[in-house]
Amino acid sequence: MVFTTVLAAFMRWLHIFSVVLLVGGALSGRQALKVINENLAQDSADTLADSIFARYRGRIIAATVLLLISGLYNYFYSTVHHSTTYQVLFVIKLLLAAHVISAGLLAARPKHPRRARLLAGAGLSGLIIIFISNYLSRIS
Ligand code: HEM
Repeated sequence: MVFTTVLAAFMRWLHIFSVVLLVGGALSGRQALKVINENLAQDSADTLADSIFARYRGRIIAATVLLLISGLYNYFYSTVHHSTTYQVLFVIKLLLAAHVISAGLLAARPKHPRRARLLAGAGLSGLIIIFISNYLSRIS
């Protein structure tokens, strides 16, 4: 009993930790990119941004794996029977999650010309997912 409670708390923490890594990375990366582009010559800005986003790529992959593990645990170990509204919103959430991950991975490619837009899109989808997820936790 205590074990399952601790495991559930850990999985919830893991889910939120991964969200911070993924969505926080996109939003703060977008801000960092703006400052870099405003203050450095194009060549230096590209080199610095490429090395920052090469690190972000690894974090996106780690966050995706952790989100899937913790998210599937949350879903399948829930004792509640989910309504159709819940399931529809859950699918929308997963599609938006796929957008956050793919836009993030594209933005992490070296010298991607639309990096800023991709990061802004990933960040916005992430914020919408957070809203949907909070709503999901209030309905069954
Ligand atoms: C960018 C991707 C994602 C974001 C930003 C996100 C965000 C969140 C947040 C903020 C919560 C509420 C946490 C809490 O208060 O306990 C949550 C819950 C949840 N997430 Fe995610 N999540 C993402 C991906 C996923 C994935 C890939 C899955 C499944 C494979 C998943 C399944 C769930 C489930 C089942 C819950 C519990 C909902 C409920 O209380 O009924 N999430 N998510």
